Amino acid sequence: PFYNAVFMNQGYLAYAEGIKNTLLISLMAIAIGIIIGVLVAVVRVISSKIKGLHWLGKICGIYVTVIRGTPVMVQLLIIYNMIFTSRDSNPLLCAGICFGINSGAYVAEIIRGGIESIDKGQTEAGRSLGFNDLQTMRYIILPQAFRNALPALGNEFIVLVKESSVASVIAVSDLTKMAQYIGSRTWDIVPPLVVAALCYLVIVMILTKLLSLLERRMSRGDRN
Ligand code: ARG
Repeated sequence: PFYNAVFMNQGYLAYAEGIKNTLLISLMAIAIGIIIGVLVAVVRVISSKIKGLHWLGKICGIYVTVIRGTPVMVQLLIIYNMIFTSRDSNPLLCAGICFGINSGAYVAEIIRGGIESIDKGQTEAGRSLGFNDLQTMRYIILPQAFRNALPALGNEFIVLVKESSVASVIAVSDLTKMAQYIGSRTWDIVPPLVVAALCYLVIVMILTKLLSLLERRMSRGDRN
């Protein structure tokens, strides 16, 4: 009876709460990651051409090296224990920001790859339209770079959704944490974990579908 009470009744609410938090962390991280990633990628590409900006490119390079060179769990624990130690600290927000900062480094390299994949002629086209470096980047290079980078970006978003389960270590009630909670209440840990795994799978499948729709939409202008 106890098993049924937790697993059947309260259980659904616990899963719903977990799914909500997992989605919140993922969305926050994706948004922050794209903003940081695009900025860092553009800075790294442009600063290699402009003398006075070399130092900025260096800083971005260090950011990418450090973030990619250390485990996201350690980064999360450091951020959580250093910055968010006040009583009103919000572990959910902390996780979203941390995963966003983490993802930014990977997105930066993905976008940089996209930018490098664009033919030099496109920059010259921008020049002939009277655009400066930034305008060429914004209106000509980036839209094409983004489209080329979309499959890799999709990969990154999928990683993020699943990586958010690491937030369990700072006591965020995400999907994984909730499954463990239910398991601890029912003395049967495997079923809730399998349910959690299925939830992740469905989320990732929906995300994949959305990405393929976006991909088709963005390549529509090309079909001629
Ligand atoms: N698990 C790896 C780590 O601990 C990957 C982190 C996140 N990866 C990503 N593409 N955002 O560093």
